Amino acid sequence: MADVTRRRFLVRAIAVMAGAIAAMVGAPAIGYLIGPSSDRSGSGDWIPLGTATSVQPGDPVLMKATVERKSGWLTDSQEVSVFVSTENGQNFTALSNVCTHLGCRVRWVPDQSGFFCPCHNAVFARDGSVATGPPPRPLDSFETKLEDGTIFIKEA
Ligand code: FES
Repeated sequence: MADVTRRRFLVRAIAVMAGAIAAMVGAPAIGYLIGPSSDRSGSGDWIPLGTATSVQPGDPVLMKATVERKSGWLTDSQEVSVFVSTENGQNFTALSNVCTHLGCRVRWVPDQSGFFCPCHNAVFARDGSVATGPPPRPLDSFETKLEDGTIFIKEA
C-alpha cells in the first residue's frame, strides 16, 4: 500500500513538473507566434509633414508624408496628403485631400477660394465644409501641432 502511494506520488510529481516545464517553454513560444497578430501600430501617432515655413498665410499648401502601419505580421506603407493652412504661422489646420463622396482627390482652386473635386464637381469651402455637390460631409480634418518648426498631424 505504501509503495502504491509512493508510486502515485512520484507519477503525479513528474506530471506536475512536466506540465510546468511545458508551460515555461510553451507560453513564450505561443506569445512569439500570436503576439504580432494583435500589434496594431500607427493609429494615434504624430506624423511629421514638413517645416512650418513652407506654409504661409494665404492659400493652403498640399503636404505629403509616408506612414508605415503595422498590422500583425504585415507592415504597410501609405502616403498621406493633406492641405495645410495657417492664418498666423503658429496655428495650422490640416484637411484631407480625399473627397468624402467617393474618394477622389480634391485640389485647391485659388480663384474660387475652395477645394474642387473633379469627379462630380463638388466644391468644399476653405474650412472643408461642403459648398456644393454630393459629398455627405466636410473634408476630414486632422489635429495638428507645431514642434521645433515642424508641423505634425495626428493620425486618425
Ligand atoms: S468623388 Fe468628389 S464629388 Fe464625387
